[in-house]
Amino acid sequence: MEKIYVHPLPVRIWHWINALSFILMILTGIQIRYIGVVNLMPFKAAVDWHNWIGFVLIGNFFIWFLFYLFSDKIKVYHPELSPMKHFRDSFRQMKYYGYGIFKGDPNPHHVSVYHKFNPMQSMTYQIIMLLIVPIQFFTGILLWDVERFQASVNFFGGVRVVDTVHVLAFIFFVAFIFIHPYLASLGHTPSAHFKAMFTGYEEID
Ligand code: HEM
Repeated sequence: MEKIYVHPLPVRIWHWINALSFILMILTGIQIRYIGVVNLMPFKAAVDWHNWIGFVLIGNFFIWFLFYLFSDKIKVYHPELSPMKHFRDSFRQMKYYGYGIFKGDPNPHHVSVYHKFNPMQSMTYQIIMLLIVPIQFFTGILLWDVERFQASVNFFGGVRVVDTVHVLAFIFFVAFIFIHPYLASLGHTPSAHFKAMFTGYEEID
């Protein structure tokens, strides 16, 4: 079996700090949001941890962002496809995950160094990393100190609006934390992509 290097070290470091931090943010966030309903930890500890880990996450994001900004590996997110071909291939990939995989069809995507993602992955990861994650960070910072950021909070419609956006993104991430590892387990063995995110090397048939 051939091995190719697909996940450079900065991406792997970013990814696992990110995954662990997101799980902790979800748990502390649930405690903050559902105080009186759940009792996972003291409220004050939940708020303190949520704030600290939030700043770790924001700093950590820049490992991923700067790495891709200053590396030719950015190509993994921009394969030279026409938009039509991109959507056709995304549809083919969705059909595979929703149907073909259950009758043993081969995966339509073939991994290579500059095409490590299928079109569905490259599109969803970009939407998440460049839109939903920054919205979560931005609303989180505003909610961290609503007095200091009063003017911005008011500009966006008040605490309720900012908080609702933050919670909607939270709901998205709760779903993502289940769907993403499920899809990541659909390699040639269930653990293949997980191993690759630790070692950097993906095994190719
Ligand atoms: C239990 C938590 C998680 C597990 C087990 C996990 C697993 C993986 C694995 C195995 C890969 C590589 C294969 C692939 O692309 O499918 C990957 C890639 C990726 N994951 Fe996760 N993940 C987790 C949490 C997260 C979270 C919370 C985020 C973002 C909010 C995230 C964002 C990404 C991104 C953007 C990539 C592509 C990285 C790149 O740019 O090369 N993951 N994940």
